[in-house]
Formats: sequence, C-alpha cells, structure tokens
Amino acid sequence: MTENKKNDIAVTIAGIEMNTPLVMASGTFGYGFEVPRVADFRFEDVGAVVLKSVTLKPRTGNKPHRIAETPAGVLNSIGMQNPGVEYVAKYYFPMLKNLPTKFIANIAGESTDEYVEVARIIAESDAIEAIELNISCPNVKGGCAIGVNPQDAFALVSAVKAVCGKPVIVKLTPGVTDIKSIAESCIAAKADALSVGNTYTGMVIDTHTRRPVLGNNYGGLSGPAIRPLTVCNVHKVRQAIGDSAIPIIAFGGVSNASDAVEVMLAGASAVGVGTAVFTNAHICSEIADGLRAYLQSQNETNIADIVGTVKLN
Ligand SMILES: Cc1cc2nc3c(=O)[nH]c(=O)nc-3n(C[C@H](O)[C@H](O)[C@H](O)COP(=O)(O)O)c2cc1C
Repeated sequence: MTENKKNDIAVTIAGIEMNTPLVMASGTFGYGFEVPRVADFRFEDVGAVVLKSVTLKPRTGNKPHRIAETPAGVLNSIGMQNPGVEYVAKYYFPMLKNLPTKFIANIAGESTDEYVEVARIIAESDAIEAIELNISCPNVKGGCAIGVNPQDAFALVSAVKAVCGKPVIVKLTPGVTDIKSIAESCIAAKADALSVGNTYTGMVIDTHTRRPVLGNNYGGLSGPAIRPLTVCNVHKVRQAIGDSAIPIIAFGGVSNASDAVEVMLAGASAVGVGTAVFTNAHICSEIADGLRAYLQSQNETNIADIVGTVKLN
C-alpha cells in the first residue's frame, strides 16, 4: 500500500463530502458498526457505507439456501432480512456516530406508504447523511415493480422527497429494457443522485436433485460477472441525463482499482463495492491506493476529472 495519503480522490456526492469515491454496497457490509472489529480496517478509505436495507416491520427473510456461488459471482436471495426501522434507528444508528466515514440508509418496502414511513423515521437521525431508495430488489415483492415503471418511480421519489430533508438517492433496477426513462423520472421527481444498478435475477439448479439451489428458487446475481453490464448502464444513463445532472454511483461487479476507473470513465462519480468485500475486507483500501496510482500515471490531479471521459470509437 502506498504512503501517499494526499486526498486527491475525495468527492462530493449529493452534498455529502466523501474521503474517497468508494461506497460499500447495501447488504454486503451489515449496519456499519460491525466492521471496526476487522483488524487494521481503514475507514478513511471508505467514502460512505450504505447500510443493509431496512423495512417498516422486521423481516425474517427467505428460506435457505440464500447464497449460491456462480462462475465469477454469487447469487443471493436474502429476502430483506432486517429487524425493522424502529430497532435499527434505536440500537444501530447511535453506534455509527464516531466512525470516520459517512453512512447512507437504504430503505425498501412493498408500498409507497411503507417507504414514506421508513424515510420519515430515518430522516430524524443525525447519524445518517442520505437515504438510498431500493426500488430494485429482485428478492421481495413490491420494490422491484416500482423500479420498472417510470410513473411509479416518479410517484415514489416525489412522496419520499416530500417527507425527507436529507438527500435521496434512487437505486435503479438494472434489468429493464429502458433504464434511461426510469432515471429521467427520478430526476424529474428531484432525486439527488442515482445508484446504477443492482443484482440481476438468476437461477442455479442442482442437477442431481433437480431442485433450485436457492430456497427462493431465484436470486440476484452480483460480482465480476455483471461488471460489463454495469459499465454499459452507467454510460447509457450518463449520456441520457447529461454531465451537469445529478451524480451516479455505480453498483455491480467492481473488485479492483481498474474496475473502479472503468465505471468512472463511463460516467459514475462514485463507485459501489459489494461482493468483493466477502473475499477481502480491505478491498476499499486497495482500490483507494490504486485510484491514487492511476491519477499519478495519467497526470491527473483529481479523480472527479476523469468522470465520463471515455472516448467512444
Ligand atoms: C448478499 C447480498 C445482499 C444484498 N442485500 C442488499 C440489500 O439489502 N439492499 C440493496 O439495495 N442491495 C443489496 N444487495 C445488492 C448490492 O448492494 C449491490 O448492488 C450488488 O451486489 C451489486 O454490486 P457487487 O457486484 O459489487 O456486489 C445485496 C447483495 C448481496 C451480494
């Protein structure tokens, strides 16, 4: 790891000042407070942590198995297990206060009313900088349907913005025919940033038992296998909304500095890291060092300057 700690990779996303453009993806980093137990973990290399999705009422999640390894990725169907927003706000948020990074709450629901109620409760906490609306989870009913329809997305984002004084980031469904129209609806509803995208629905079958491996039959595919899809979606959305519009946080398949640079060149201002943390708890520090080295090798001084600079053929 380099000794160069010059902060040339700091970014500001939706008004949130982040040490680095690296954002821990929801569901892969718990509720943030567990991580200091990892020896030598460098929180200063993490721009922000998105907490595991939270719903109005506690959810036990889907039946096992919930994870299946696939070539270059994993398939998960956790099913939004969480103890409910009241519990998270009361017991988990206070533990985040002195940790040296920023925290974003991710919320999910089966109806607009549920999202609005959860957002209202979370907006009261000082520990949380912003709310990410998960309208793209393939493992529960409700949320994913909102993410495939521009009108529903507009109505949901507008309703949440009306009760929430914090920035609202919308996590788009990547597996749609026209991601650009959903992005445009979210911007029309005054979203502060877009997370592009999430997992892709997949299935793995055990050929001996002839049964799906996941208890839920289907799950969401993440990891390096989906990275080219993320690069493409980020580029499409950036082209559609223009450079001066709201920032994009890329999610899907980033596992090293080169991957992070790739999604930034495509148009992302920040970079989510999820599945890669399962095999390397220090992945963000390694990517942060790699981003500094990339800037040096390219004679660039600030990471924000590379955003969207892909040269198309
Ligand atoms: C085990 C697991 C649980 C996840 N849980 C959530 C969740 O609760 N809410 C959410 O918005 N995304 C969830 N995701 C999706 C990730 O936040 C991320 O968008 C996706 O995994 C793609 O990024 P990656 O390829 O870097 O993992 C989960 C992903 C995994 C692997």
